[in-house]
Amino acid sequence: MSENKERKKITTHTIQLMKDKGEKISMLTAYDYSFAKLFDQANIDIILVGDSASNVMAGHETTLPITLDQMIYHAQSVVRGIERCLVVVDMPFGSYQGNSKEALNSAIRIMKETGGHSVKLEGGEEVVESIKRIVSTGIPVMGHLGLTPQSIYKFGTYSVRAKEDAEALKLKKDALLLQEAGCYAIVLEKIPASLAKEVSESLHIPTIGIGAGGSCDGQVLVMHDMLGINSTFKPRFLRKYLNLDELINKAVTNYISDIKSGDFPNQSEQY
Ligand code: KIV
Repeated sequence: MSENKERKKITTHTIQLMKDKGEKISMLTAYDYSFAKLFDQANIDIILVGDSASNVMAGHETTLPITLDQMIYHAQSVVRGIERCLVVVDMPFGSYQGNSKEALNSAIRIMKETGGHSVKLEGGEEVVESIKRIVSTGIPVMGHLGLTPQSIYKFGTYSVRAKEDAEALKLKKDALLLQEAGCYAIVLEKIPASLAKEVSESLHIPTIGIGAGGSCDGQVLVMHDMLGINSTFKPRFLRKYLNLDELINKAVTNYISDIKSGDFPNQSEQY
């Protein structure tokens, strides 16, 4: 790889410089080679191989069932598609909560087997020891606070988090603890915009928001949501950039009808 190409790559250092310069950070999920390639070519800063793969790729109701092996498969596919962006891989439920040694072993597997550049895990104070241990081996860690979908059975709903003072105070403390533990960025999911603003201003590392308002240092969306693949998911924070469900339905309907009518393939589409 040429030195020039190497210089253009986005690293955790680039992400920090972007916050320092006030340049917003763009992040999008991807789970396979083809979409990762498209997003990288469009110059996305970060691709998150999210455990939302459990929902949007495998059709599970929650993110809990996806395994470490399955996350590694998705991340390997994504990494093969990218040249420039930073790839962050979610540590799935059950791969880091046991103890910090287990967390480190899972993070090492992700880094060794996928070629990804960083891992992400959910939680505050309770995962600080694991974060410190992972960071101490040279693996960059992105934190995740607010609505943490791996704890859905504790929360009971996917509604906005930290609206009450006590939870907001804990979130602010957790954000500082994650920063001290060595996280290079923190996802803030579905919390009041005013709280996300306060947290973003209090940290020197970047925050990446989803449903957390415009004052975060960056934004992330799940690709299926922003491309309109699943039209039934319509949370307030979502901006749809495409109605891919309609486009795909139209294309497939036309394809079926062309086959049935005998129009496809025509003379120029055969050997
Ligand atoms: O798994 C995921 O897609 C995520 C984003 C919602 C931040 O964690």
